Parts: sequence; C-alpha cells; structure tokens
Amino acid sequence: MRSADHDAKRQFNEILSLIDSTYLLPQLRAKPKYVWVAVSTACDLRCGFCPRQYIEPVDSGFMDLERFRAAAEQFDGMRKAALFGLGDPLLSKSFFEFVAICHARGLEVATTSNGTNLTEDVARRLIESGVEELGVSMDAATPELFRRLRAPGDFAAICRNVERFSELKRQAGSATPCLVIPCTISSENLHELPDMVNLAHRLGATGVSLSDLAAMREDFARYCVPDSPELSRRLDEAFQRGKELGLVVGRFRQKMNPWVDAAAETEGRPHGCPTLWEHFHLERRGETKYCCYIGDAIPGAFDRPMMDLLNSDCFVRLRESLIRGRLRKECRGCTNLTVNSPERVEAILREAEKRIDGAALLGETEREQLRQTVRACREVAPRVVGRPYAPPRDGLLRRLARRTLPAPLRRALRSVFQDAR
Ligand SMILES: C[S@@+](CC[C@H](N)C(=O)[O-])C[C@H]1O[C@@H](n2cnc3c(N)ncnc32)[C@H](O)[C@@H]1O
Ligand code: SF4
Repeated sequence: MRSADHDAKRQFNEILSLIDSTYLLPQLRAKPKYVWVAVSTACDLRCGFCPRQYIEPVDSGFMDLERFRAAAEQFDGMRKAALFGLGDPLLSKSFFEFVAICHARGLEVATTSNGTNLTEDVARRLIESGVEELGVSMDAATPELFRRLRAPGDFAAICRNVERFSELKRQAGSATPCLVIPCTISSENLHELPDMVNLAHRLGATGVSLSDLAAMREDFARYCVPDSPELSRRLDEAFQRGKELGLVVGRFRQKMNPWVDAAAETEGRPHGCPTLWEHFHLERRGETKYCCYIGDAIPGAFDRPMMDLLNSDCFVRLRESLIRGRLRKECRGCTNLTVNSPERVEAILREAEKRIDGAALLGETEREQLRQTVRACREVAPRVVGRPYAPPRDGLLRRLARRTLPAPLRRALRSVFQDAR
C-alpha cells in the first residue's frame, strides 16, 4: 500500500529514530514512529477496570475527521497509527476514513475494539480497507466472568462477531487484519489465562496479548497480579498452549500502580523511555500527553506542528529529567524506563551505521546526514552517559588525541578527516 517515496521517508526516519533512541538528547530529531489516535472516547461497555469509568466528567465523542486529516499531513515517514482511545473506535462513523488517511501517508494501521460493533459489514470493510492489525479485547474465556469484567458485553454475541470476521477473512484469502486477542491480567481472570489461548484459537486469532492491569485507583491494586509462582505457572501454561495451537502468546508488562512514588534504585543514572522518544499521542480534542501514566493534558496538537509540540519546553524538560536521572513519580518503577549506559549507546550507534550502509532507498546526501548525526552522538555520549567510552573505528587515535591535543586543534583535525572520508 505504501509508495516508494513513503518507503524511503520511512527508512530515513527509522534510522534517525534509532539514533534518537540513544537518549543522548532531550530533543527529537526523528518523527515519532508511532501515533496513538483517540478516534473515539465513546463506548458502549463499562468494563470495571477501564480508566474511562473514573474520569470526571467522562469525555464521550469522536475526533473531528478534518482536523485529523490536516494533522496527518505531517505523518509521512512514521511507521504505525493505533486508532482507538478511551472508547471504542468502531463506534466512529468515520473510522474507515481515518484508516484511509493513515494509509495515504504510508502508515500501517492497528486498532483495538471491544467487538460489540464488529458487524458483518464492518468486518468486510476492515478486510477490504487493508487495516493491518485488529485486536478484540476479551479478558475472560467464560461468559460468566466476561459479564463481570466487561459489562454489559455479550460474550456469545462478540464471539460470533469475531468468528464471522475470521471466516470472511478466510473466504477473502486475506492475511489482514491480523487478529489478536488482548487480555488484561487481573486476579479475577488469572485462572482463565490458558483457556484464553483456546478461545483465541477458536475465534481464528493469530495471537493473544497478555498485559498487566494498571490500577487506575488505589483500591484496585488488589486486583493486580505481581510476579508470583502462580502467575509464572499460568503464563507457562498459556505459552505452552500457544505452542501447541500455533498461536503467538505475548506478554506485555505495564506499570501497575502509576500513583506509587517508590524510590528507584537507578535514580541518578541516565535513563530514557521509548514512549517519550518514539510515540505521539493525539487525543480526541487535539491535546497530547506524555504517556498513558502521566495525566497532564498538553493542548495544541491540532494547531501546532507536531515536532514543535514534541520539542516544546515541557517535553524537553521531562526527557531531560530522565537523562539526568531525576525521575518523576510516574516514571519510577515504569516498565518502559530504560537505564542508559555507554555500552548501550555504542551498540545502537553501531547498529545505526550498519543500517545506514545498507539503506538502499536513500541517496548519498541522506546517508551522509545520518552518518554525521552518528558522529555527533559519539561526541556528546561521554558527557551524557559517562566514560569509559570507546568509539569503534579510530578509537585509540581519538583517545590519544584527546589526551595530548588541545580541543580547538582536535576539532580542526576532525573536520579535515571527516571531509576526507
Ligand atoms: C481502553 S481500551 C479501548 C479499545 C476498546 N474499547 C477495547 O476495549 O479494546 C484498550 C485496551 O485497554 C485495556 N484496558 C482497559 N483498562 C485497563 C487497565 N486498567 N489496565 C490495563 N489495560 C486496560 C482494554 O481491555 C483494552 O484491551
Ligand atoms: S470497551 Fe474498552 S473503552 Fe470501553 S469500557 Fe471497555 S476497555 Fe474501556
């Protein structure tokens, strides 16, 4: 579905994004790879653990298509759009126009629904539209538990919807949308995890995605399932069943308690976070946010250029605080938090160099631009992630030069050598 131009832009942005993921700079040079688009905050279910039930006043509506169309003009080069929000995307009458806009910019599209509105017509359109991934959240393998966790969802009706979707996809001979069953692990459904895999198989899914419950209210913490022998046993059973049935069973960790302000062992060391460096959240009414755990709503996402917004003071300050190891409450204990090190940075830069050399879609000017960025990173790395730091090629010479030559002379020599390469 993507043109050669899209592929080239994507290749360039992906390498730049990889370089950004060294977390050396609080500013982004690359566009974020992923955009989360809250196409709908309206919902027909009232799942007990969903943050939607505890927002006062709750927002319930649909993103304006034309405002999104204008915003999406900046998305070329990005990888994927996830269309949902705290609501159900298939309730939006414009859903397929959102999809078409994302595809026209070269993005893959993923969406997650509660399955209630996965009618025959919607199923056909999903298949025809080329949506790459569809998640239908289940959280329970039995009607009784389903009714309790995803009220007033009708387990049997949703299963029929999903089975019909899979049958239509099979008849169309289409590989997409790839169907996954997301399941949020809680103390309520822990015993049903292995059966979730059987259910997903029956529904025609290719995988199950098991993620932790994030307790949006403190009194929900008791439903979260921290690591324990029982969790390991249920997960092992689920993975084993996945192997037997040919399904991919994925496990995604979440920070279960964003409101806990526990001291982090790594405080003071340089950090980074893929969400802050690689994701853009576009909320229904044109706000953005840092991530799912930090409540602050930042206005301007429909009015300002995306990169200006992502490089505005508040974003830069938050990224800088991670780089400096000053973690805010929501970041402490977050599973996305990454501790940085000279070795990590160097491994990424070497990988970036490999990809630059193999980037068949890019011209020499673009490749050189990327190489320069890698060189600039090697310059700043020791100041950000500390020493010892061994640049790969002319490392020994550089270190000797650093010890023996004054900085201005080093800079002059470097530019001569770089020009000569
Ligand atoms: C917010 S929903 C929106 C899309 C759609 N309405 C659905 O149910 O899939 C996206 C996903 O978040 C999951 N979810 C809801 N509340 C959660 C929580 N407190 N912690 C972790 N995941 C949660 C849902 O089960 C669903 O898989
Ligand atoms: S269906 Fe999705 S958005 Fe609606 S209440 Fe349930 S989890 Fe929340």
